[in-house]
Amino acid sequence: MNPPWAMLAELTHGCPLRCPYCSNPAQLITRSRELETGEWVRVLAEAAALGVLHAHISGGEPLLRNDLAEIVAGASGIYCQLVTSGVGLTRERLAELVGAGLRSVQLSVQGPSAATSDLIAGRTSFADKERAARLVVESGLPLGLNIVLHRHNLDAVDELIELAAAWGASRVELANTQFHGWALINRRALMPTRDQLAAARARVEDWRRRTEMEIIWVVPDYFDGTAKPCMGGWGAISLTVAPDGRVLPCPAGYDLPLDFPNVRDHPLRWIWAESPAFNAYRGTAWMREPCSGCPRRHEDFGGCRCQAYALTGDASRTDPACALSPDHHLVTGPAGDGGGEFAHRSFSRLSGPIPPCP
Ligand code: SF4
Ligand code: FES
Repeated sequence: MNPPWAMLAELTHGCPLRCPYCSNPAQLITRSRELETGEWVRVLAEAAALGVLHAHISGGEPLLRNDLAEIVAGASGIYCQLVTSGVGLTRERLAELVGAGLRSVQLSVQGPSAATSDLIAGRTSFADKERAARLVVESGLPLGLNIVLHRHNLDAVDELIELAAAWGASRVELANTQFHGWALINRRALMPTRDQLAAARARVEDWRRRTEMEIIWVVPDYFDGTAKPCMGGWGAISLTVAPDGRVLPCPAGYDLPLDFPNVRDHPLRWIWAESPAFNAYRGTAWMREPCSGCPRRHEDFGGCRCQAYALTGDASRTDPACALSPDHHLVTGPAGDGGGEFAHRSFSRLSGPIPPCP
């Protein structure tokens, strides 16, 4: 078994935004249960000793933690990237983070204009993002934009890439919605059409021929009948530390019926190598048919465990995204028609529908 090379540190599930595809679990962890400063610093030191090279300091919104610079400083020896909505980023705060060793910033954007972005984010925030992008570029740190794509912004791929260029990003990640957690709750509203996806993919290929900017296209998996090698395999290359100290092989894994170990109780090295949760779906021995006899099992690892569990109630089944899965009808049925209204993320779970996106 190799050491993990990346760690997602979810410092908090608190967030000023309310995106309906949020990758945080539907049952968010309250602020009072968060790890303290010293605990995060210890976890980062353990991660460095374990071999982690890259830490994504994320949330929720990590800027809500007043001790953020202390935590970043604790990640010495690890390439540290801040993943942020940009809300609350000031020149002073950024200087403090740069001084603590921050190496890059990934800024989320919800749409190409204030009207669309703010509607999807569930609050006014586009102007904060624009200002945050300017501060990051002025600081000399590399800026990346992260844009989750769905029915309400896929047609604007050109404008989104133009926005990334105008804001000085060196990289833009166009991540088609993965339907877990909040996105699964909002699947009907977020699901794009096949034509939208095909057109957007063609636009991305065209842009790649004529820009130096790195453009990442995270493939959707409901449409082409193939399972993706989710997380690069369960417990294979990365780990996620939740705000309350639980450690998961996947940031979307909270709902799986596994006893996720906690850094408050166990060393990170034991969690990675020995814990039952990290070994549950490692390798291929756990697989059943059709995966167990399939030649692609060493490439896609049977697809996504979270999706298999969310759609079938059994995390050891073949990902329904695969056309060979007996459950494939679950991703090709009526849920793929789009439309509907958003249920925005909230600590009180579903806080009631808001007006539909244009
Ligand atoms: Fe991958 Fe399993 Fe489908 Fe084979 S059957 S392609 S291993 S998900
Ligand atoms: Fe968790 Fe795919 S999202 S394994």
